[in-house]
Amino acid sequence: MLVVESLTKRFGGFTAVSNVSFNVDQGEILGLIGPNGSGKSTIFNMLSGTFPPSGGSIRFEGHELAGLAPHRIINRGVGRTFQIPRPFRRLSLFENVALAGYYGQNRHSEAKANESAQRALGIVGLPTDRAATVDGLGAAGLKKLELAKALATGPKLLLADESLGGLDEAEMEQAADMLRRIRDQLGITIIWVEHIMGVLMRVVDRVMVLDHGEKISEGLPAEVAADPRVIEVYLGTDAEATQAAAARR
Ligand SMILES: Nc1ncnc2c1ncn2[C@@H]1O[C@H](COP(=O)(O)OP(=O)(O)OP(=O)(O)O)[C@@H](O)[C@H]1O
Ligand SMILES: [Mg+2]
Repeated sequence: MLVVESLTKRFGGFTAVSNVSFNVDQGEILGLIGPNGSGKSTIFNMLSGTFPPSGGSIRFEGHELAGLAPHRIINRGVGRTFQIPRPFRRLSLFENVALAGYYGQNRHSEAKANESAQRALGIVGLPTDRAATVDGLGAAGLKKLELAKALATGPKLLLADESLGGLDEAEMEQAADMLRRIRDQLGITIIWVEHIMGVLMRVVDRVMVLDHGEKISEGLPAEVAADPRVIEVYLGTDAEATQAAAARR
């Protein structure tokens, strides 16, 4: 479904992503992990057209995406969440999601945008009541709103930049289960970016690990969790939790 070759991003003299190649198969959940600043969000920004790549290619269902504008990429069926949610506070919850749905269509229709918002809010378990506001959503609620906005664009491939920071353990597990349901029930392929490895390992089919913009490991969760290069990078963080989570699958 997605074939990425030698993807590179330079900011001035600094290389944030260096020659990264990977594939994603239809129906798969690929986990993309790595420490802070390792280039995960930068990869999403290139896949979604926020930044043009400095080099490499991104082929989605046989079409080159590199260099396309974000709305064209959305229309091809690639939706994304943003790591830091920034809803329009003066719009209702419903309007925030409907706006994303409107943007995600080739032929703009308010009725269709409303339908997709209704569906997306239901999937993530947020109120579909038109009067609900975004106030008081909290960290977990804002993450759900991000997911609802991405789903309202009608993606075939969902780029979920979750960063579960601010969520408690139960909320993190719920977020992981929700991504699994989105794949299982809606057939949406997912790349899930996270730097907390433990939660992710239980849900993904395959994992790719970045460090300083380079791919340092890729494979099944148990293989990656046992890879000495990965353990070295994660040493002192959650290496044990990660291996336990991979073993629990
Ligand atoms: N627009 C930008 N201009 C300059 N440097 C940038 C820009 N965006 C990202 N970077 C740099 O590129 C590197 C990779 O950043 P990126 O946001 O992709 O990391 P990340 O893996 O998503 O980290 P985190 O886990 O903290 O979200 C960092 O050093 C960051 O400072
Ligand atoms: Mg990031």
